[in-house]
Amino acid sequence: MAKGHTHVGVNYKAQLRDALLAHADRIDILEVTTEKLFIQDDDPILRDLMRKLPVSLHGLDMSLGSSSQLDDSYLRKLQHALVTNDHLWFSDHLSLTKEGGTEVGHLMPMRLGEASLGSAVEKVKVVQAFSRQPFLVENITYYYPMPGSDLPEAEFLTRLVQQTDCGLLLDVNNLYINAVNHAFDPDAYLDAIPLDHVVEIHLAGGSHKFGMLIDTHATDVWPAVWGLFEKVCARTRPRAVIVERDSNFGAFEHMLMELDIAREILARHGLYAPRPVSVAMTTAA
Ligand SMILES: [Fe+2]
Repeated sequence: MAKGHTHVGVNYKAQLRDALLAHADRIDILEVTTEKLFIQDDDPILRDLMRKLPVSLHGLDMSLGSSSQLDDSYLRKLQHALVTNDHLWFSDHLSLTKEGGTEVGHLMPMRLGEASLGSAVEKVKVVQAFSRQPFLVENITYYYPMPGSDLPEAEFLTRLVQQTDCGLLLDVNNLYINAVNHAFDPDAYLDAIPLDHVVEIHLAGGSHKFGMLIDTHATDVWPAVWGLFEKVCARTRPRAVIVERDSNFGAFEHMLMELDIAREILARHGLYAPRPVSVAMTTAA
């Protein structure tokens, strides 16, 4: 891939390991769940892919929204994973996954206010202090705002970036789902956040349930999400785009096709160039 162009890839899933290995030449970057590296899980195919491809680490359980400091046990494991695994950057979510010793078990929206902003800034600075690679924060899907929130998410993220110089992982599907479910303008959100800090983008598909859009990562990327992605590409230069899929994998060729759609959109904005084709020359008899 040409230097400076956006990498397009997928998040590693054990169900896809053989297909990922067989088609590694059609994947520019592999996103690996950070906590998967906390355990001594001998997955030789994952290790092989991590040697072959650039890696982005993506965490689930930092819990920037906890009122307490980051827990020591988590930090030790994170630090070890960062030191022992080559990666371009690492990320986690603007969310709450634990509070007062209780594990929530999923990505819950965090309270967005002055106190939680100060606490999140402190946490981001702690992880930045022990890593040489950039740290990114991702916007999540939420189906209700956390009670007590008095800052808009876009303002919260912007101030977090201003105070820590962290990067952003912009999940375009999460933005679209939140915009539809909570009736706000996604373009105004894009206007409000520092798009020049977007390092990675997530794309995914969702489902319609209970009269809402739900972030399931179980379907193809919706046309409206491709449209929003195109608007982002017109305005900034992400270093990577990951198409997320957690279930209903179907034919792997179909997933690869979605990566190619992302590449076509990037190429329209000068962010991706077709890789050189090597032609085997044959001599006619
Ligand atoms: Fe995401």
